[in-house]
Amino acid sequence: MKKLIAGNWKMNGSLAANEALLRAIAQGLAGGAPSCDIAVCVPSVYLPQLQALLGEAASPHVPALGAQDVSPHASGAFTGEINAAMLKEFGCRYVIVGHSERRQYHGESDALVAEKARAALAAGITPIVCVGETLAEREAGRTEEIVRRQLAAVIHVNGHCISEIVVAYEPVWAIGTGKTASPDAAQAVHAVLRAQLQAASDRSARVRILYGGSMNAANAKDLLRQPDIDGGLIGGAALKATDFLRIIAAAPHPVPAKTAI
Ligand code: 13P
Repeated sequence: MKKLIAGNWKMNGSLAANEALLRAIAQGLAGGAPSCDIAVCVPSVYLPQLQALLGEAASPHVPALGAQDVSPHASGAFTGEINAAMLKEFGCRYVIVGHSERRQYHGESDALVAEKARAALAAGITPIVCVGETLAEREAGRTEEIVRRQLAAVIHVNGHCISEIVVAYEPVWAIGTGKTASPDAAQAVHAVLRAQLQAASDRSARVRILYGGSMNAANAKDLLRQPDIDGGLIGGAALKATDFLRIIAAAPHPVPAKTAI
């Protein structure tokens, strides 16, 4: 399966900075098809800008567009919210749901995250569902229990189309801290998530499970060569074109599917 390298710009950027970053990424990709799929998940107010910039890029090798959150509701009196149909109108292919920063600062529950994933799927947008344990939970030996509980809520609500999601394992203690899960430790959690998806759907092999949390140009290669790490969700390093391009370059080519003899 092709890896997916997705940048999460979080609440960073400006019209000028976005244009410079996107142009530098597009220029870096213009030389040929990358080995992986690429996306940038940007603040919603900048979606029209990014949609226009991506549309006018001379090269076909440009990132897909994504948002960082979506309302679970279709429309109506929800001041400040943005629905999935609106994201779709501005060319979003992906939307991050359940990022730990939203769970932590906005009190998002597992059930709400599952509803957000449902709203995205209904609009034909791929939700990137984030799961991950805090440091206290890891130290208490609860990592598996926490990530399984978070994913179970999404499977419960979206069971029939669970093969259409992307999962991102983001240990909270690794986000923005410079502390990365070791490739073996990350792989162990990814294997747990893979098994859970397998039990839920016979089409689960197509679900990509990304790793996020201080992934950078130096550690990407070792993480991305793990069998169940299907890409990365990149924060800080996605804001520098050279770093983001180096992570993209570190993604191994997909293993060709076995052909029947
Ligand atoms: P950092 O790469 O800055 O640690 O952020 C990871 C993240 O939260 C991506 O969603």
